Amino acid sequence: MATSSQAEPTALVTGNQVATDPPSPALAPRAIIDMRRIQALAARAESMVGQIRQRLLAPESRKVAPVFTTAQLAALCGVDKPHINYRLTKGDLPAGQLTPTGGKREFTLPEARAWARAYRGEKMRPKGQRAVCIAVANFKGGVSKTTSSMILAQGLSLRGHRVLAIDIDPQGSLTTLHGILPETDVSEDMTISPLCHGETRDITPAIRSTYWDGIDLVAAAPSCSALNSPCPPCRCATRRPGSGACWPTALSRCGTSTT
Ligand SMILES: Nc1ncnc2c1ncn2[C@@H]1O[C@H](COP(=O)(O)OP(=O)(O)OP(=O)(O)O)[C@@H](O)[C@H]1O
Ligand SMILES: [Mg+2]
Repeated sequence: MATSSQAEPTALVTGNQVATDPPSPALAPRAIIDMRRIQALAARAESMVGQIRQRLLAPESRKVAPVFTTAQLAALCGVDKPHINYRLTKGDLPAGQLTPTGGKREFTLPEARAWARAYRGEKMRPKGQRAVCIAVANFKGGVSKTTSSMILAQGLSLRGHRVLAIDIDPQGSLTTLHGILPETDVSEDMTISPLCHGETRDITPAIRSTYWDGIDLVAAAPSCSALNSPCPPCRCATRRPGSGACWPTALSRCGTSTT
């Protein structure tokens, strides 16, 4: 509510005066936007993104996998803590490290995965069997596609499986979650693009290891945007007329997927 101290603003034009436009300032010369300027801007943005990443991931400048307590390891293996302690006496599985105070035992990610494989042997993919392919897709934005993909990949790897995560989103959010910058660290030939465009039938060169043992990644780059356009013949994500295949077909041909 207005108080007496809050006076109405004074009218600037009173009586019968005719308001006129203020004199127009001289037009400032427009900066010419050419490719040189755009390239300079892109270089600046790239360097800035690099600096932000270094700050976010300091001091290692890369993501670091978690370590696991005995209780967490027991949960992964579907047994209880005393059983883990008993099994440790056999000495056939990684023993982890005692914390500096000696009170607790910690297991690295590769060690935890070795335990999980030992206890889930019958659930691992039999030799010679094709890998299982899981696609996380939804037309709607922001509905947890990337998060679900990452959680699935990490969850399956923690159960002993080997996972190949393939990022086909030009935004590269899944790539970023692995500590890799799509804009600066990934070129188009290191993505799934060449496979989808029929330039290769082998995705192996694009597979990179990640900070997370058990998850390999085919990263995405902004230049993969063609992968998001519809493929008319099969209404699938990607295909250039007369060449290559949409990504599910391409993947099934080269037999690589989530395992
Ligand atoms: N189960 C959840 N609980 C809480 N927040 C979540 C959950 N899943 C995802 N989010 C959050 O929702 C936001 C969107 O998630 P995400 O990026 O995975 O969606 P997306 O479908 O991949 O989005 P886009 O369409 O932009 O690719 C993120 O901030 C993420 O942290
Ligand atoms: Mg996403």
